[in-house]
Amino acid sequence: MKITFQGHSCFSVESSSGSIIIDPFLTGNPQAVAKASDIKVDAVLVTHGHADHLGDAVEIATANSAPIIAPFELVNYCAAKGAGGHPMHIGGGYDFGFGRVKLTIAHHGSTAYEGDVATAVGNPCGLLVTMDGRTVYHAGDTGLFADMALIGETNAIDCALLPIGDNFTMGIDDAVRAVGMLKPKVVVPMHYNTFDVIEQDPKEFEAKLADSATEVRILAPGESLEL
Ligand code: NI
Ligand code: MN
Repeated sequence: MKITFQGHSCFSVESSSGSIIIDPFLTGNPQAVAKASDIKVDAVLVTHGHADHLGDAVEIATANSAPIIAPFELVNYCAAKGAGGHPMHIGGGYDFGFGRVKLTIAHHGSTAYEGDVATAVGNPCGLLVTMDGRTVYHAGDTGLFADMALIGETNAIDCALLPIGDNFTMGIDDAVRAVGMLKPKVVVPMHYNTFDVIEQDPKEFEAKLADSATEVRILAPGESLEL
């Protein structure tokens, strides 16, 4: 399995069974090195409706004839814009051709904006994605929550993708606590340094996990890791 950081909270995941993109905020993402028109995927997974996550989801899904996999209300919102979708909800899992997806809780909001018009698109989520026998946990945007211990107990997480930016999500110290509960083999920090208000030093996150069994991988946009 190959995981590529596309900047902010966007990741591509490729395996022998297919490829997906998560939270495809590429257009307007100052960290992005890929263009939405270059993305070739079997599915587009979206954690919530905020523009820095929903991003180019409708365009990529439409161009690839790929479903948007997201909470029910968000899939319906995208369907009204012409994108195909597979609605799910928190706690539910489903086996797709490319692998299994299960939605987890995330403590955050989920409103989509078009200009000044706000549409509530249900609850935000996190994602557990299993492909090629490897499990990735994308936390979405969330604060720290104690049920991460349950997620860690019930899933052997190979790679956790955790926000560290603070202000809108967990900051570094809470993300360090999250690693203690999730016990992933590898953790990749995300959702930092895209905007001034979420400026963080990922080296501080790495240093605070120096004694942890979890390996910290700081990825530059466009950089990949293999699991
Ligand atoms: Ni958000
Ligand atoms: Mn966000």
